Formats: sequence, structure tokens, C-alpha cells
Amino acid sequence: MAAPHPAAVVAGIGAWLPPDVVTNHDLSARMDTTDAWIRQRTGIRRRHIASPGTAASDLAVEAGRRALESAGLRTVDMVVLTTTTPDKPCPATAPAVAARLGMEGVPAFDVAAVCSGFLYALATSAGLIAAGTADHVLVIATEVYSAIIDPADRGTAVVFGDGAGAVVLRRGDPDEWGALGAFVLGSDGVHEDLIQVPAGGSRQRKSGLPPGPGDEFFRMRGKEVFRHAVQRMTTACRQATLAAGWEPDRVDRLAAHQANARILTAVSERLGLAGDQPLSNIEQVGNIGAASLPVLLAHSAERGELKPGHHLLLTAFGGGLTWGATTLVWPQL
Ligand code: ACO
Repeated sequence: MAAPHPAAVVAGIGAWLPPDVVTNHDLSARMDTTDAWIRQRTGIRRRHIASPGTAASDLAVEAGRRALESAGLRTVDMVVLTTTTPDKPCPATAPAVAARLGMEGVPAFDVAAVCSGFLYALATSAGLIAAGTADHVLVIATEVYSAIIDPADRGTAVVFGDGAGAVVLRRGDPDEWGALGAFVLGSDGVHEDLIQVPAGGSRQRKSGLPPGPGDEFFRMRGKEVFRHAVQRMTTACRQATLAAGWEPDRVDRLAAHQANARILTAVSERLGLAGDQPLSNIEQVGNIGAASLPVLLAHSAERGELKPGHHLLLTAFGGGLTWGATTLVWPQL
């Protein structure tokens, strides 16, 4: 019988939020919204926002450093970064982050899958470990959404925040705690216009036309996205549980992309989970895109809501459209 592939095992975790906080009351002082509306429709009370001059790489370095410390490592042999808000359109953000973490010469690249980016980056990294290309990979998700949010768009300005999270993956055994399970990933580009930044890419630049008003900002058709998010994350979770050989009641905790508290409740109810099983930090951080999942894992582990031995389902959904899910048993870190 062929030997099983080596697994990618979570060996360290770190998160970093920029210190400045914007509350719902701050937002309601400057736009037509209320604290009550934001809390009822999204579950968010506050979000962290990067100060002027701070870029995605700055947050990534802080989160990456913490994940390396948590793993007891100074270096890895690959850095995979995911973001919707890179420092620049070109080059990728990962090489600069690797260099600032003292890893000049280490291969480093970006993966783009909007809010599903962390799961796509984990899957990519797990594949590199299984193929023997890397033994240790630093996976960083970092977002400065405040750089692309239209401050006048109340449908997005109240939802998004900034932050970064990271994990270290090491080569290990599929049966040990921390080993990532099979990945369920999907995309549907038919709906690419539901979440987009219309200007700044080759489509608009080569059109010969200047950007339309506000086209350099992030646009989201919230109601339609909501429906897709619930359906895709629920299905992906069921498929990932099946692939792991877990009975549905084997799941202890759900770590879902923190897009909206009502989405989390809907997914959790469809999966038949109880009230304390979905992990949540959306109240304090809002939707931080690709960084949502690793920051949620770090905060939940810190607060003791995610414990070693917990059977964990991870799921995300984002622009593209893209989505994914995987499983793991949370390790002792
Ligand atoms: N304050 C007050 N009223 C508001 C606000 C606000 N901030 N925003 C919208 N409204 C109003 C609307 O104008 C509308 O008024 P009307 O009925 O008079 O026309 C009403 O509230 C309802 O608006 P909806 O857009 O239908 O509100 P909804 O309940 O759908 O909430 C939200 C909007 C929060 C954006 C929600 O749709 C959502 O969370 N969508 C999914 C987000 C998501 O999953 N994203 C995917 C990942 S993110 C990524 O990939 C980058």
C-alpha cells in the first residue's frame, strides 16, 4: 500500500490588529447609519482601522512574527501571503514581508481569493508540503480594507475592518492534532461582479476610459452575496466533514469567515450546531476579509473557546465568487 502523503500540521499562530478603533457611534456621526442598525444587521460594534501610512505588509509582518514565535521558529522555507489589499498592484506583497522577517532568499508569493484567501493559501501550502517542496510554511492573511472602502458607502463602510493573522504549517502526520484535513474549494466567476473593485486593473486601464466615479473603491451587492455565502459555506462544510470521515455531530467548533453575524447563525443552524459551537469575534473586529479566519482562531484560542482536541470545521466565502472548507483537530500550541 502506498504511504499516505505527509500532512500539513498547524504549529503556530499569531494575529495583529492596528490599534485605532472605529465604533458604530463614530460611523453614525459621519454617515447616515445607527449603532442599532449595524448591530442588528451585522453583529458588529467596532472595527480596527490602520493609521495613515500603514499598508498590508506592515500588519503582515506583525502577525507573521507572532506566528513564528508561537511555533518556536526564526525561519521557514516558504512564505505564502493572501490579501485583497496588497501594498501595490505589482509586485506581490509576500517577498517584502519575508525580507522584513529576516528571510531574504526564501520563496514568497501571494495567493488571491478575496475573503476565501486564507483557505486557498492553506490548501496551496499543504500541497507544497505534501509534494516535499517545503517542510515549514508561514501562511499570512493581511487586509487594509480601509484603503479601498468608499467612506460614503454605508453598505460596506460599516462592515469592513483591518487586521492580519498567520499560521506556521509544518510537515507531519495525518493523524496528529493540528493536521489539516481534505480541502473543499470552489469558485463561480459568473458572479464576479457581486464583489469587485471595478477600476485599476487591465480591464479598465485598457478600455481607454478613465475610471467612473467611485470605481476605485470596493463594491459589494450585499443582499445577493449574503444568499450565496450561506449556501456555499453550508455545502462546503458538509463536504469537508464527509471527506474527513466525521459524523456531523463530531464537530465541536465552527470557524466561519466573519462576514456577518446573521450569516454565521444561518450556516450554523443549517449544520445543526448549537449556540456555543460557532466561534465569533465579529463584534470586536468586523469583517477583515482573508484575515478573518486566522484572527478568529487566534482570539478564540486565547479566550479558551477553542481548546486542544476540539474537532474544528473551517469555512470561508468571498469575492470571485470563491469558497472553501476544511477540518482539523485543534493542536496544543
Ligand atoms: N445603516 C442604515 N441603513 C442601511 C445601511 C446602514 N449602514 N446599509 C444599508 N441600509 C439600508 C438600505 O439602504 C436599505 O434601505 P431600504 O430598505 O430603504 O432600501 C436597508 O437598509 C436594507 O439594506 P440591505 O442592503 O438589504 O441590508 P442587508 O440586511 O442585506 O445588510 C449587509 C447589508 C450588511 C452588507 C449584508 O447584506 C451582508 O452582510 N452581506 C454579505 C456580506 C458577505 O458575506 N460578504 C462576503 C464576504 S466579503 C468579501 O468577499 C470581501
